[in-house]
Amino acid sequence: AGKFTTQAFSDAKKNSRKITMLTAYDYTMAQILDESGIDSILVGDSLAMPIQGKDSTLEVTMEEMLYHCRCVAKGVRNALIVGDMPFMTYHINTDEAVRNAGRFIQEGKANAVKLEGGKHMADTVRAIVRAQIPVMGHIGLTPQSVNIFGGFKVQGKEESAARALVEDALAIEAAGAFAIVLEAVPEMLAKLISEKVSIPTIGIGAGKYCDGQILVIHDMLGLYSDFTPKFVKQYAKLRGSMSEAVASYVSEVRDSQFPEIQHTYKMNDEILERLY
Ligand code: KIV
Ligand code: NA
Repeated sequence: AGKFTTQAFSDAKKNSRKITMLTAYDYTMAQILDESGIDSILVGDSLAMPIQGKDSTLEVTMEEMLYHCRCVAKGVRNALIVGDMPFMTYHINTDEAVRNAGRFIQEGKANAVKLEGGKHMADTVRAIVRAQIPVMGHIGLTPQSVNIFGGFKVQGKEESAARALVEDALAIEAAGAFAIVLEAVPEMLAKLISEKVSIPTIGIGAGKYCDGQILVIHDMLGLYSDFTPKFVKQYAKLRGSMSEAVASYVSEVRDSQFPEIQHTYKMNDEILERLY
């Protein structure tokens, strides 16, 4: 298939071909997604939950994101890698934002960055794109705004909020973003936004009319069980499979059923005898 590029994002929308995205945070997972034909991998700050056991994304650092980006990059051949900019790494001013975006490319080996926010982030998006770094926008439920929203809940149900989201999408497109994530917005509002912008929309909890979809890998594999949003579909129940495997190991070791002969190394009997 070859490397998926930001140009391929744009071509996909023109050709009505849906874009597939998932998150990954490590080498093995990235390898599995890449081998399975995913178009693009987001190294999301959502790693705060399944990887770090936190209950929000607010404490994730640049260093942590760069570490996970490098791990993912090692496992990827074709997928476009998007690095998720953490809270407070693009909010102070555009200089800091550009410098931190640059680190995702140079140190994290990402191909693009993502940041949260609409109209008020347009200048930041523009500055990063001017530095030749592709930017993915993210509007709707932006988890870094949890303390302003007062929780994780659907956005854009009221008329004024819906209008604001349409304007946000248009502002992010005008600023030069190559795609935009729509998170937890009503399906028909996501459809309207997808029609109004020419860049692809990537939905999560935003219905089937988006130009692409993304899910958190631990959610869709059924690995993470602390909290499962309404928009998650579990394509596997890996937590159960893994628990069974671990329980089998525990009982076989206790019963001396593992390891068996085929798992062991031999040595010369005469040498052994002399050791006794
Ligand atoms: O961090 C993340 O995984 C995200 C996606 C859910 C869009 O931002
Ligand atoms: Na994120």
